[in-house]
Order: sequence, then structure tokens, then C-alpha cells
Amino acid sequence: MILFSHPEDYTPVCTTELGEMARLEPEFKKRGVKLIGLSANTLESHEGWISDIKEVTGSQVNFPIIGDKERKVAYLYDMIDHQDTTNVDSKGIAFTIRSVFIIDPKKTIRTILSYPASTGRNSAEILRIVDSLQTGDKHKVTTPINWTLGDDVIVHPSIKTEQAKEIFPNVRVVKPYLRFTTLPKDA
Ligand code: BEZ
Repeated sequence: MILFSHPEDYTPVCTTELGEMARLEPEFKKRGVKLIGLSANTLESHEGWISDIKEVTGSQVNFPIIGDKERKVAYLYDMIDHQDTTNVDSKGIAFTIRSVFIIDPKKTIRTILSYPASTGRNSAEILRIVDSLQTGDKHKVTTPINWTLGDDVIVHPSIKTEQAKEIFPNVRVVKPYLRFTTLPKDA
């Protein structure tokens, strides 16, 4: 599951983000990942804004968006904006930042991303992290800088090189601690 917060409904950057996450929802679904948005606004506000998002981006938001006006979830997950004094509601109470929590099926939080209100997220990076986590869990590998699905991976440090050569094809030892391997295409 991915739980992601944004500062406020009917704001420009958030509108582009929600449209993009809605467009990419099938990609997340393919990977078994559910999306849940959150902002410190009401459900009624979300409903009207979802129509705008469809109009502006062409994408229909079908995943739930938590109406966390009281900031109950936001405080629990530390999503509150402690720095940006412009990111506040009409009473001056801080809104949420752009947090992303990637939570695995065992309910373990595997990734936390925090972006300021002024910076829209990178949806490709969120998908890339999901791919890395799922690939790593399945094959006992880690993934190098800028890795994307299909690239070579790194043998997990806990696996000895001799053992790695039995498990993986084409193990390339660059250093005893840096061993690349190729994963089969359907992996
Ligand atoms: C936005 O989504 O455009 C936004 C929201 C709050 C503060 C700054 C930007």
C-alpha cells in the first residue's frame, strides 16, 4: 500500500500530482499496490476537487483520499508541515507536507519520502522504489543508483560469492563487496 499526503485540495501542484497518481493507478495495481491519498480537508471538499482533477488532467481518481481535517492520521504519521508558515489553513494551523509511505503486506513501513509543499513529487521514482523493494524481496538482491526494472542488480551482501554463483547467472565480481548479476527477464 502507498499512503501519500498532500497539502490542500484545490491547489495547483496537488492537482497535477493527484491526476498523475490516478493515471498510474493501473501500474500500481499490476504490482499489487493500493493507493490512499490524504489531505487535511473534508470529504466534501475532495469530491468537488476530484471533478476538477478529471477536467484538468483527464484522469479519474478512483482510489480513496482520507479527509483528515482534524489531522489525526497526519499527526500519527508525522506529515505536518513544521517549517513552511505559508502552508497553513484559514486558522493558521499547519497543513500536511507531501509525504509518501510505502507499506508492505506485513504492514512494515519500507520507505518514507518527504517533500516540501512547493515541490511536486516524481511518480516514476515512487514506482521505481516499489519495483526495487519487490525485486529485492523476491531475489535477495539490492539495486544500484538509478536502477530501473530490467537493469542488472547487486547480490545482497549476506550472500557469499560462491553461493551467489550457484544461484544467479552471470555474477560479475567488481570488488568482493560489489557483485552484479542479471535477473532473468521474467523475474
Ligand atoms: C500546491 O499544491 O500548489 C501547493 C499547496 C500548498 C502550498 C504550496 C503549493
